[in-house]
Amino acid sequence: MSYIEIRGVTKTFINANKEETQVLKGIDLDIKKGDIYGIIGFSGAGKSTLIRCINGLDKPDSGSIKINGKEVTALDEKGLMALREKIGMIFQHFNLLRSKNVYDNIALPLRYKKRSPDAIRDKVDELLRIVGLTEKKKSFPSQLSGGQKQRVAIARSLAAEPAILLSDEATSALDPQTTDSILDLLAVLNQKLGITIILITHQMNVIQRICNKVAIIDDGRIVEKGSTFEVFSHPKQRITKKFLESIFRAPSEKEIRELQKESPEDEILHLIFTGNKAKQSVISDVTRSHHVDINILYGSIEYVGDQPIGSLFVTVHGNPFDILSAKKSLQNYSVEIEDLRGDPDDTAAIA
Ligand SMILES: Nc1ncnc2c1ncn2[C@@H]1O[C@H](COP(=O)(O)OP(=O)(O)OP(=O)(O)O)[C@@H](O)[C@H]1O
Ligand SMILES: [Mg+2]
Repeated sequence: MSYIEIRGVTKTFINANKEETQVLKGIDLDIKKGDIYGIIGFSGAGKSTLIRCINGLDKPDSGSIKINGKEVTALDEKGLMALREKIGMIFQHFNLLRSKNVYDNIALPLRYKKRSPDAIRDKVDELLRIVGLTEKKKSFPSQLSGGQKQRVAIARSLAAEPAILLSDEATSALDPQTTDSILDLLAVLNQKLGITIILITHQMNVIQRICNKVAIIDDGRIVEKGSTFEVFSHPKQRITKKFLESIFRAPSEKEIRELQKESPEDEILHLIFTGNKAKQSVISDVTRSHHVDINILYGSIEYVGDQPIGSLFVTVHGNPFDILSAKKSLQNYSVEIEDLRGDPDDTAAIA
């Protein structure tokens, strides 16, 4: 049994026009203790609703959510309070109290729980050290950068020593460098404190940097899920490939149209290589043994953890039979192939 087990969760809202819309359409997820599980999807896909069901702020219409074997959907008010103590939350907007300084913001949950002043001081000082803000403990939120505010929010969410941290777009308002430093902090918390993290985002580079697992949510359904490496190297769904375009440098649609216009017979492929295969030698092997010309448009290597994934956008020129056997041969090297050539009639229409 998984640490967090989600089965068949559905949720319907009534919208402004009094129409029912099903926002979650049967979600199944298995999250293990110690995972950093990324959930990625476009705006309105249902990510925040799912998160709110996990911490009991919303109740699913049907389905089951078990945390450590306990059914969340069956908890009474007291049970929900106890559950939320175990779950920390951070958001895009940091929700700090403007009238309180850093120290007092972090101390808030501890005061609420009526901890002794000594215990509060020790805990807040420890948290300030963990998030690297000891120097700023007397500062007010208005005197902090976005990244520093998010560190305060993280420290506050850790005050109750949660086993699970839910992050809903916590880095969306931050610049890329600050995003990386916050993600690195979350990875450290995961490793040092063993906290299980569920991280909601619409950015694939966030998933790439720290998530060991990823699920893609589209219109209330999980359409693809697995280890981050597996999903990045063998994406199945169109939407997953769309999200991966922000990771692997790809030719623009205009470039593809122009290439097709120039040489309508050529295939335009995206090849994804995994492991330590020297991609140059695979390409030259295939070129030589199948009498095709392979021309590289863009190439890059990205890492998921310490595992490299190579990406090549190529055009393949040759007779159709040779191209087909070249593609088969690439697949034998377990290269993932995505065909970027659209329907030629469509292209003519667009051009
Ligand atoms: N309380 C509510 N009442 C009515 N509709 C709601 C409610 N909460 C969410 N919705 C609708 O459910 C859909 C999914 O919302 P949700 O907030 O889960 O999306 P999201 O994936 O988090 O999007 P974003 O990336 O923009 O935060 C949206 O169409 C939203 O308008
Ligand atoms: Mg949201």
